[in-house]
This record gives sequence, C-alpha cells and structure tokens, in this order.
Amino acid sequence: MGRKFYSHARLYDLMFPDRGPATEFYRAQAASQGGSVLELGCGTGRKLIPIAADGRQCVGMDLSEEMLAEARRKAAARRVDVQWTHGDMSEFDLGRTFDLVFIAANSLLHLHDAESLVACFQSVRKHLAPGGRFVFDVFNPSPRLLSEADGVRRTRQSLSFVDPERGEVRVDVAEVYDAAAQVTRGTWYLSAATDLDFVVAPLEIRSIFPQELPLLLSLGGLRLIDRFGDWSRTPFTGGAALQLCVCQAE
Ligand SMILES: C[S@@+](CC[C@H](N)C(=O)[O-])C[C@H]1O[C@@H](n2cnc3c(N)ncnc32)[C@H](O)[C@@H]1O
Repeated sequence: MGRKFYSHARLYDLMFPDRGPATEFYRAQAASQGGSVLELGCGTGRKLIPIAADGRQCVGMDLSEEMLAEARRKAAARRVDVQWTHGDMSEFDLGRTFDLVFIAANSLLHLHDAESLVACFQSVRKHLAPGGRFVFDVFNPSPRLLSEADGVRRTRQSLSFVDPERGEVRVDVAEVYDAAAQVTRGTWYLSAATDLDFVVAPLEIRSIFPQELPLLLSLGGLRLIDRFGDWSRTPFTGGAALQLCVCQAE
C-alpha cells in the first residue's frame, strides 16, 4: 500500500499538486449522478473536498491515518463536511449504498493480486445504489516504460518541489518491474540541500493491462460501459496514457 510513502501526507500534496482536469472530471461525474459519493483511497481529499463543497454528501475511505488526518485538517479549514473513514478498499462494508463510487489517481493499483482486485470490485458492487456508477482511473501500462525500470536511481525533475520547511526538495526514484507479478517495485528518495534522503520509502504499483481489466471487473459483478484515454473523454486507444473507466452493476 506504500504505508511509509503515504505517512508524509503534507509532502505528498506538495509533490503532486492538484491536477485540475482530474478533479473537474470527478466533480462532473458527481454532478451528473446526483446523490451521494464514496471515494476509496481518498488520500488528503483533493478530489472529495471540492465535490463536498458543491453540496454533495461525501464519504472518503483510506488506509493511511496520516492521509486522513491531512484530509480532515483541510476540510475543516474550508468548512466542508465529509465523513472520513479508515478502511481497506480490498474488502469493506459501510452498510449503505452510493450513487457514485470512485477510485482516483492509480489508488486501485495498490491492490496487487487479482483476488484483491476482484474482492474490491465485489465490495464496490454492494455499495452501488440502483443506477449508480463506479468510476476509476489507472495508467495504461507502456511496455517501453516498464522495460526501462532497471533499478537505477534517477532524479525526476518534474516532481521537484519547494517545501516551506526545507526549501527545494529533489525527488529520486529507483524502480524494477516484476513481470510475473505485474508490479513495479520502487524506492522513492526525497532530499533537501542540507538533508540528503530525509525520506526513503518503498512504493509498489501494479499494472492492469487493457484486456484483463474488463474481465476482473466482470468477476466482481461490474460491467465496463465507457473507457476514455484522457480527461477530455477521448475514447481509449493503445497509446493512451490513461484508462479512465466508467462502470455499472452487471
Ligand atoms: C496516489 S494516492 C491518491 C489519493 C487521492 N485519491 C488523490 O487523488 O489525490 C493513493 C491513496 O490510496 C491509499 N490506499 C492505498 N492502499 C489502500 C487500500 N488498500 N485501501 C484504501 N486506501 C488505500 C493510500 O493511503 C493513498 O492515500
């Protein structure tokens, strides 16, 4: 799940500043569905807080207490009401249903084996109200990028950020791809000028290939009704960066 990686919730928000199109996409989904919203792997609430601010009834679930604490702090600062709950998306029972359930920003890929993914989809299915939608985005695995994961530590210039407490922070990542497990196993290193490697944290993320995705959903009682390749709803093709999936109960 990347427990150590996500224990740095404040740094997470600085490293991955909110990307407007993704939040706008999920806001629009919530608006067109109407009713209540559940986000699994909600993190610091970057998508859910704006949706709740639109007046929707929202529940956010995450496995990291630190991410939830940051979400609570931000929602309180904005005076937005969200029910935050600690839980594991691989199996959960909130005893109610929702009009929209979503999993954003590759959070689903923290479930590595097929059984966990199917169990997650089964739980999602149980939480969908009649006519409800399940929407999620995961990256489209690129064989070229996966084959380049050679274990060498490299700086990711595009992720460097300024931490008000430490100044400029450099982000290095070393990754290898375990093809049998379909999991990229990475180590993330954060360094400031006077504080080398002040964070060293593992992060492992699965690949879900385009043909297996609808089959896993189907085993969970869900049907893929739309797959887009970007936030402007371009239909998915092999070269797309994203698999943005809209599903309903079978
Ligand atoms: C990449 S972050 C995305 C956070 C948020 N959805 C966003 O868009 O900013 C992934 C989140 O998934 C959470 N997570 C990982 N495994 C989980 C699990 N099994 N159940 C619930 N949350 C999980 C992590 O704690 C983290 O907050």
